[in-house]
Amino acid sequence: MSEFDFTALPANDRYNLIIGLVTPRPIALVTSMDASGRVNAAPFSAFNYMCADPVLIVLGVTNRPGQKDESGRPIPKDTAQNIRVRGEFVVNVVNEDLADAMNICCLDFPHEVSEIAEAGLTTIPSTRISVPRIAEAPASLECREVITVERGNSRVIIGEVVYAHVREEFIDPAGPYIRAEQLHTIGRMNGAGNYVRTRDAFFKLPRPTLAEWQQRKK
Ligand SMILES: Cc1cc2nc3c(=O)[nH]c(=O)nc-3n(C[C@H](O)[C@H](O)[C@H](O)COP(=O)(O)O)c2cc1C
Repeated sequence: MSEFDFTALPANDRYNLIIGLVTPRPIALVTSMDASGRVNAAPFSAFNYMCADPVLIVLGVTNRPGQKDESGRPIPKDTAQNIRVRGEFVVNVVNEDLADAMNICCLDFPHEVSEIAEAGLTTIPSTRISVPRIAEAPASLECREVITVERGNSRVIIGEVVYAHVREEFIDPAGPYIRAEQLHTIGRMNGAGNYVRTRDAFFKLPRPTLAEWQQRKK
């Protein structure tokens, strides 16, 4: 076994190790909006749903690496600043069709350049919140910030999903369920640029009952 003391490791080594071990990670293409109404989009793979009643999701946003303001304070990413201002954001689900555009949205464009337009995406109004969603996304979750926890350069944003938009073709009305085998979401793996597909990658692992398990052991 290789051993690592995370309290003593340089931040970059911790990052490299953790992103290789917590895999695959779903990707949220997050839309947020500043005080003047400018819409921002950026991908986050420190992202997941945490519980369902109500539905709470988390986003992990680190400060801009190596950048400080005039007072020497770290600079939060635009997404974090916008959520602090408005308390609202949209998680747009990333599938194969959205992968290239998502990858453009993470570039460090000058403030006046819209990464959404650069990526060939468009926005449409949300239903319950002021922040618009990505029209091309297969599904979007409108979220209100519940609480944000800050520690060092890290910020964990917890949001409550208050409204969902899912393209008709991905809904099985019997549930309603999501036709996840057809959604073709992608996941982020270790290192920059490493992803996995979920297309044709599903397998079944039926959960045995306790009685079946006890029978099997005999
Ligand atoms: C697939 C992918 C996942 C990412 N996940 C995160 C993440 O979880 N946390 C983070 O702080 N940055 C993450 N990034 C980097 C941000 O997207 C990038 O810093 C972006 O420019 C931030 O934009 P903003 O300043 O407009 O918020 C990720 C980038 C990519 C391509």
